[in-house]
Amino acid sequence: MAKDFSFMQKTRIILDPAYTIAQVDSRIFGGFLEHLGRGVYGGVYHPQASSADENGFRKDVLGALHGLNLTAMRYPGGNFASGYHWMNGIGPKDQRPTVRELAWQSIEPNQFGTDEFIKMAHLMGWTPTITVNLGTGTPEEARNWVEYCNSPVGTRYADLRAKNGSEDPYQVKLWFLGNELDGPWQLGHVPADRYAILAQQAAKMMKDTDPSIETIACGSSTMSSPTYMEWDRTVLEYIGSYADYVSLHRYIENPNNDTADYLAATNSIDQRIEHMDAVCRIVQAKTCSKKRHFLCFDEWNVWYRTRSAEHTNGRGKFAPQLIEEHYNLEDTLVVAGFLNSFVRHANSVKIANIAQIVNVIAPILTRGDQILLQSIYYPFAMFSRRRDGIAIQPVVIGPAYDSPSYGRVNYIDTSAILGNGVLHTFLINRNLSEAAEVEIDHAGGKIESVKSAEVISGSDPTASNTFENPTTICSGPLQTIKVSEGKASVRLPPLSVAAVTFKVS
Ligand code: AHR
Repeated sequence: MAKDFSFMQKTRIILDPAYTIAQVDSRIFGGFLEHLGRGVYGGVYHPQASSADENGFRKDVLGALHGLNLTAMRYPGGNFASGYHWMNGIGPKDQRPTVRELAWQSIEPNQFGTDEFIKMAHLMGWTPTITVNLGTGTPEEARNWVEYCNSPVGTRYADLRAKNGSEDPYQVKLWFLGNELDGPWQLGHVPADRYAILAQQAAKMMKDTDPSIETIACGSSTMSSPTYMEWDRTVLEYIGSYADYVSLHRYIENPNNDTADYLAATNSIDQRIEHMDAVCRIVQAKTCSKKRHFLCFDEWNVWYRTRSAEHTNGRGKFAPQLIEEHYNLEDTLVVAGFLNSFVRHANSVKIANIAQIVNVIAPILTRGDQILLQSIYYPFAMFSRRRDGIAIQPVVIGPAYDSPSYGRVNYIDTSAILGNGVLHTFLINRNLSEAAEVEIDHAGGKIESVKSAEVISGSDPTASNTFENPTTICSGPLQTIKVSEGKASVRLPPLSVAAVTFKVS
């Protein structure tokens, strides 16, 4: 029997085009590919798969990734990067060493390296971005990698690139100065002042090699770290303009199986961003600098089911099954919440990378020759297709609830992007059992009609896609929208994520 939603309270969203935040940087729709578990081997690269192309790249996986409309790709880690020596991954494949990889305790045969990554990035239209090894590596090794990728032929490492097949430089413009070096789990973890010196030395040599590159300093990797924010201040003050961005990571969890509380985690995403931006601004003020460091949210997702050693220790195997989360409906709302938060903070968050892309905490899973699109695939695709324009500051007036972990949140979480004659709106209904009526008022402008509208919803927050039932959670058309007198009203099902693009004047 159809449920009667007539008692629901309305939410009013005011989107005034005069209240702009900033242009949405398309790089917030980046991905992350790490040599971890079955991310590379058995994920994007699998010469034995029936869908492999002449490079050994899985065409089915790349086809699915294409649907995510990713702009940039971070490689090769993650924790892996802190023990990776890039020279092991270039040259004739039969001469590359197989090594014991320590971050994930796995076997790394180095069959996929810089040249394969760049080839894949070019094929996919991704902007390649690279994390250098500042754990067990040296600033000089990092600088040599920049030469390999970006310098014209005529010097040692650039000539090596040409020998390996590409006379043309790869033009890698964005470089990460290590990964999570504030964390004791990281290979080569050091205190903030030591990391700051190392990162400054590396960045200087890297920028001396190619002055056109931008760099990202490691920020605090978790809010629970004892050096949270102090690490960031120390590093940014010391490194100054040798870094252009600072990185932040966040994985959300639902350990108590409390959906309402979990969905309120958007508050902590906003908070994480605002803390980091506050540090950047303090450093800018303290150092009287013209330079403001912007934020690079280079690892974000839901991750908590596969945190134990069973899921994180490869036990000396090649391509072991590590951190393969199976995502459900409630996770799609959290993923959409991250994206809403990035759009709302378009003035500070310039880069973001969903962690990761295939098998490893990923929107896509492979099983032999099969692939599965997980529930979280859909919100990402819905947003990334609607990314061009300026973020508008939303005013939300409507019912709210108190969550034990994150405080008070509106039932409706939202963000909006004003494009050329179009207004993209993103709406999450956190109500577990009731639909929501949402009025959208484009104050100072006029909503003319609906251009496109999609929704993801379901009644069971734990429902997920499986290889047997692959389409339990996916996006479909949203029809419950009315436009009249320049405004729109949208009825959102309970537990849903919607993306609605309006034609506006
Ligand atoms: O994305 C998985 C891991 O999470 C990354 O390797 C690391 O940077 C983070 O701790």
